[in-house]
Amino acid sequence: MSAPVPIRSPLPAALAGHNVLIVGGSSGIGLAAARLLSEAGAGLCLVAREETRLKEAAGSLGDGARVRVMAADVTDEVRLAEVFERAGPLDHVLLTAGAATRAPLADAAPSRVRDSFDVRFWGGYATARAAAGRLPAGGSITFMSGVYTVRPIAGAAAAIASGAACEGLARALAVELAPRRVRVNAVRSGVVDTPPLRRRLGVAQADPAQADAAVAEAGRHLPLGRFGTAEETAAAALFVMAHPYVTGSVLTVDGGQSLA
Ligand SMILES: NC(=O)c1ccc[n+]([C@@H]2O[C@H](COP(=O)([O-])OP(=O)(O)OC[C@H]3O[C@@H](n4cnc5c(N)ncnc54)[C@H](OP(=O)(O)O)[C@@H]3O)[C@@H](O)[C@H]2O)c1
Repeated sequence: MSAPVPIRSPLPAALAGHNVLIVGGSSGIGLAAARLLSEAGAGLCLVAREETRLKEAAGSLGDGARVRVMAADVTDEVRLAEVFERAGPLDHVLLTAGAATRAPLADAAPSRVRDSFDVRFWGGYATARAAAGRLPAGGSITFMSGVYTVRPIAGAAAAIASGAACEGLARALAVELAPRRVRVNAVRSGVVDTPPLRRRLGVAQADPAQADAAVAEAGRHLPLGRFGTAEETAAAALFVMAHPYVTGSVLTVDGGQSLA
């Protein structure tokens, strides 16, 4: 399998001049989406908890980027309201904030694994509530889900269920917000090479070449011979954001991982 090629799609051009708020924009899929959106000419507001990482992320987008950052925890509704107040006019919201404590059922009291729902589902719900009344006709909200919702692994039930819940939330809100012409979708991603994967493989602090080799080896058994890239999943988020007739969809971008 050859290396992934950079994503080049004409559709994101439709996002030029749009304003997009990304909750989770300082890392992984959210940061990759920020990069693609910036290249497409969109203005950005990146939200995450750690301000230093947010500033680094914004800096990495280059001088031409129209980007603001706001530190906030998506589980804090009061702070979320302030963020939306300060963000000004927005066209789209993308949610990639996620926490996923994994533990087998026998070891996992609800209090230990509740973070998945608190951040991804309730954080997403609260963000949608804060965003819905502000988005214009044609605007959109995009949630994240994952391949494990249809092909589960053991020991991650709460985390997996929170992704499935976000798919349900996207479909339900697509119906509820359709009269306002606001679209709501979810992207169901395969496992991609972002910091959480590197932490799970124990190579987050390793020498970069060794870490790359470990990631490549771990992904070799997958249908396309590798994990996805953050950019590949982010491109799917841009697709549902930009496509004016896509709502209530769960777009799978998993390199066939759900078939293997
Ligand atoms: N990577 C995968 O293989 C994969 C596969 C399927 C689905 N997904 C889902 O895709 C999403 C993004 O994954 P990723 O790999 O890109 O993760 P990541 O690299 O860890 O990025 C997560 C982002 O969310 C922010 N965040 C976390 N908790 C937050 C909170 N309470 N409030 C506000 N921001 C918060 C983080 O910044 P701070 O820590 O500074 O807040 C960071 O910017 C997650 O929902 C994940 O479950 C990932």
